[in-house]
Order: sequence, then C-alpha cells, then structure tokens
Amino acid sequence: MTQTTVDAPSKDRAQIPARTLRKDRYWLSPLTTFAFFTAWVVYATVRSMMGSSFWVEKYHYLTPFYSPCVSKACPPGAADFGRFVPAHLPFFIPYALISLPFLLGFRLTCYYYRKSYYRAFWLTPSACAVPDKSPAHKTPGKYTGETRLPLILQNVHRYFWVIAGLISLVNTWDAINAFHGKDGGFGIGLGTLILWVNVIMLWGYTLSCHSCRHVMGGRLKTFSKAPVRYWMWTQVSKLNTRHGQFALITLGTLALTDAYVALLAHGAFSDLRIFN
Ligand code: FES
Repeated sequence: MTQTTVDAPSKDRAQIPARTLRKDRYWLSPLTTFAFFTAWVVYATVRSMMGSSFWVEKYHYLTPFYSPCVSKACPPGAADFGRFVPAHLPFFIPYALISLPFLLGFRLTCYYYRKSYYRAFWLTPSACAVPDKSPAHKTPGKYTGETRLPLILQNVHRYFWVIAGLISLVNTWDAINAFHGKDGGFGIGLGTLILWVNVIMLWGYTLSCHSCRHVMGGRLKTFSKAPVRYWMWTQVSKLNTRHGQFALITLGTLALTDAYVALLAHGAFSDLRIFN
C-alpha cells in the first residue's frame, strides 16, 4: 500500500496546548497490542531456536514452527521435504529456515500488522486525535508515508503472500500426516484436530489477505466478462472483512499448536486419542 506525501499540519490550524482532548483510555488498545505481540515474539523466537520437542514420532505431529524441517538434525519422519541444511549451525538458525524468514516478512508487511505496530510500537500515532511521536510527522514537508526507503519495502508484501501460500500447503501436508495411529495406520487424536484448526485458520489468514483480493479481482474493468474471477473476488472480499481477526487468531492457534506438540514430545501428558 503506497501512500502519497502528506503535508504536516499548517500553522494556521488551531494551536491547542493540550496533548490530546481525548478523555477515554485510548492507550489501552496499543498497550495491549504491544504486550501481546512482544510476548508472542519472545515465545516464538525461543521455541524456533530450541531445536527440541518439535516432533511426536508416534503420531506424526510436527509443530508449525519447524515446518518444513529441513535440517539434517530433523528426524527422518519429520523431514518429508528433505534434509539439506547442515545440522551444526549457530543456535539462532532455525530448523525451518526456508520458511520462517518469509513468514516473518509476510506478517511484518501485512496491512493489519502494519496498522498495529505503527500504533503500538512506533506511536505514529497511537490513536486518532492523539499526537504522534515521529519527528518526521512534525516537520513540514518531511512526512512521506510509505513512499521512501525503508517503508516503501512494505510493497513486497504481494510476493511474500505467494510464498506464504506455498508454506500453507506444507502446513496442510503436516496436518494430513497427523492422521497417524499408534500402530502406524490411520488415527486421530486431539493433536490432529489442533493441527487442523491451525491450518484452517492459516488458510483463512492467507486467503483473506488484501493482496489475494487484488490478485482475484484487481484491475478488472468489467466483472461480467470475468465471472470466475468475480466470484473468487467476492468470496475473498467476504473473508477480507475478517482479516484482522484471522491475523490475531492465527497467532493464538500457532502458539497453541506448538505448545501442545512441545508438551507431548516432552512427555508432559499423553495425546487424547479419538481413533487408534
Ligand atoms: Fe495481511 Fe496480506 S494484508 S496478510
């Protein structure tokens, strides 16, 4: 999303000495976002770099933080896409190094997250009718929105979306693999259901993306001449109204799925089996 340059407020505007006239607790939402995102990033970083408790051999549960598992340190059963990365790399290189950097880029450039972290971390501004903290916004002629480096790089979001779609296919494969029973045949456990809920929410997030909506119906001048694209655009538009919810829900389902697999792999409890 590219914004045009916007002039700083004119000196002719009313000079109000109060920092803001808002009396409500407008700071609560950005503060909650700040706390939640920080906690999530710390958890995800630690888990991605632990290099343990990410795979349950008995039921073929693989946490999404290690998918696809491409390190030579991955157990063979967890590495359906090959093990081609040396095992002994520095601890900060995750086993899923071919997916995690792209997923990070996808979320960082997402329109929903941009709104959230511009408000909660950069305070530019933290809420409507509240002065922002960026010096550029206070200097006439300096505010350039997302039209200059580095923020113009937010436009690569559409390419991250394509890669995220491919990674969602990998996550779907992991969920299919999780239909694995104790004796090697078909089986379903609570872990299978958790992996499926997670992957369905991930698809909801990926397909409700603004870039996806543009790919489906963008630049069409006459919808009636492209009924299939119009239908797909209509469906994605419905999902798109819930994009922010999918963005938050998937943070929850990703952490929950990872925590469940980690605790199971660690032996903290047994999987609740529904079939085999
Ligand atoms: Fe959020 Fe594309 S706008 S994922």
